[in-house]
Amino acid sequence: MGFPGSVPLILLLSACCVLAAAQLPLVINTWPYHDAVQRAWDTLQSGGSALDAVEKGCSQCEVDQCRGTVGYGGNPDEHGETTLDAMIMNGNTIEVGGVGQIRRIKSAISVARAVMEHSSHSLLVGESASIFAQNMGFLSEDLTTNKSLSMHAEWLSKKCQPNFWKNVFPDAATSCGPYQPVKGIRSKKRGMPAELINVHSHDTIGMIVIDESGSIAAGTSTNGLTHKIPGRVGDSPIAGAGAYADSTVGAAAATGVGDIMMRFLPSYQAVEYMRMGTEPATACQKAITRIQMYYPQFFGALICANRTGGYGAACSKSPGLDQFHFMVYNPLTALEQVVNCI
Ligand SMILES: *[C@@H]1O[C@H](CO)[C@@H](O)[C@H](O)[C@H]1NC(C)=O
Ligand SMILES: *[C@@H]1O[C@H](CO)[C@@H](O)[C@H](O)[C@H]1NC(C)=O
Repeated sequence: MGFPGSVPLILLLSACCVLAAAQLPLVINTWPYHDAVQRAWDTLQSGGSALDAVEKGCSQCEVDQCRGTVGYGGNPDEHGETTLDAMIMNGNTIEVGGVGQIRRIKSAISVARAVMEHSSHSLLVGESASIFAQNMGFLSEDLTTNKSLSMHAEWLSKKCQPNFWKNVFPDAATSCGPYQPVKGIRSKKRGMPAELINVHSHDTIGMIVIDESGSIAAGTSTNGLTHKIPGRVGDSPIAGAGAYADSTVGAAAATGVGDIMMRFLPSYQAVEYMRMGTEPATACQKAITRIQMYYPQFFGALICANRTGGYGAACSKSPGLDQFHFMVYNPLTALEQVVNCI
């Protein structure tokens, strides 16, 4: 075209600016779910929003049944049924959609998004959430698989061990229900069953996406806890517990023993630490430390990202968890990363 000098100049400029804004967009998620982070990244690359990327990334895990902890056919409850918890949060508007203990619907995070976009509510639960989903056009189908059937059969054959009951008769440590409450023995504390505090029963996907314009979204999806008492809803669909996003600050997402973690709203807590100027890795650590003051060996981890694309993670050292793996995808890196637990 007669301006031979201009081509290198343009290349130089673009190299400069890609590097300067190197950390956005950003996708991070809990656990080494490679296909999920890739799907979220691809969604951004094809023009999707941060919300679209979180939805598609977590949906990928629902389809893949990531480690049996996300999606259909895993972690059956006491009745043998798999139910799902999920949420999504828009950090620009502070809108949230969540579903708790939703039945017969595979795409929990998409239903959560429908709650956010087609209702003024933030959380729908149980059978009514399933009816909402069907009305929104989602397919109703059995979430049972041979694997979930055999997990349930094995649990029944072991006298319903482990389970989550305490202060009941007959003794839940040796018998199946139905149970009745026993009064006045509160001091005989029964903790979380040891068999369930292991690395493969709490591997909820939590994801944070920041797009190039700085819009932040976060979300989670899980099938909850193996052999949970029907009706149990964990931390994942609860804003501030499972995830939190505020585009003026950053976002966080949690994974682990939801029944304990939800008491501390760790995702909200980490975002608030970042609001006060704390770096992401430290914000994650401080939120974990807050829980450890009461539950020194709880099983759990957090991922944190600030609005400029800084990120970090932290985990609580506990039986089965010395290190925590998470995924990071930004213009400079597309890697599984690992952090030592505290
Ligand atoms: C489940 O088990 C049944 C009976 O053993 C078998 O016929 C069926 O093919 C299995 N289904 C899947 C999806 O593996
Ligand atoms: C975000 O985190 C990075 C990495 O810790 C840090 O360098 C950066 O200053 C933080 N940005 C803001 C706005 O706090």
